[in-house]
Amino acid sequence: MKIKAIACLFLLGAAIGYAAPASENWENNCQKCHGADGKGQTKTGKKLGIKDYTDAKVQADLKDADMAKAISAGVKDEKTGKDKMKAYTDLTPAEVTDLVAYIRKFKS
Ligand code: HEC
Repeated sequence: MKIKAIACLFLLGAAIGYAAPASENWENNCQKCHGADGKGQTKTGKKLGIKDYTDAKVQADLKDADMAKAISAGVKDEKTGKDKMKAYTDLTPAEVTDLVAYIRKFKS
C-alpha cells in the first residue's frame, strides 16, 4: 500500500515535471492504433474504423479543439458507451496541443 502511494507520487511528479516530445508520445501511446504514418491501418485501427489522417478531407473535418478534447477526454462509442479510445489524462495541455500539431503534419 505504502509503496503504491509512493509510486503514484513519483508518476505524478514525472507527469508534471517532464513533457515528452509529441513524436515520443505518439510512438508510445497512439501508434498502436493510429499507426506510425497516421493512416490508422493497424489491426485495432481497422477494427475500430480509425480515420486516415493523411486524407486532406479528414483533416478539414477535424477541429483542433475537438482533437484536443478527444485526446484528453477520450472517445466513447455513442451506441454502447464503451471507450473507443481512452482519455489520456496524464498528458499535459501542452503535450496535447503538440500532439494535435503532430497529427496535422500527417496530411499529405
Ligand atoms: C485503442 C486504440 C487507440 C489509441 C491507443 C489511441 N486512439 Fe485516438 N482514436 C481511436 C478511435 C477508435 C477513435 C475514434 C475514431 C472514430 O470514431 O472516428 C480515435 C479518435 C481520435 C481523435 C479524434 C479525431 C478522430 O479521428 O475521430 C484524435 C485527435 C485521436 N484519436 C488522437 C489520438 C492520440 C494523440 C493518441 C495517443 C495519445 C491516440 N489517439 C490513441 C483509437 C485510439
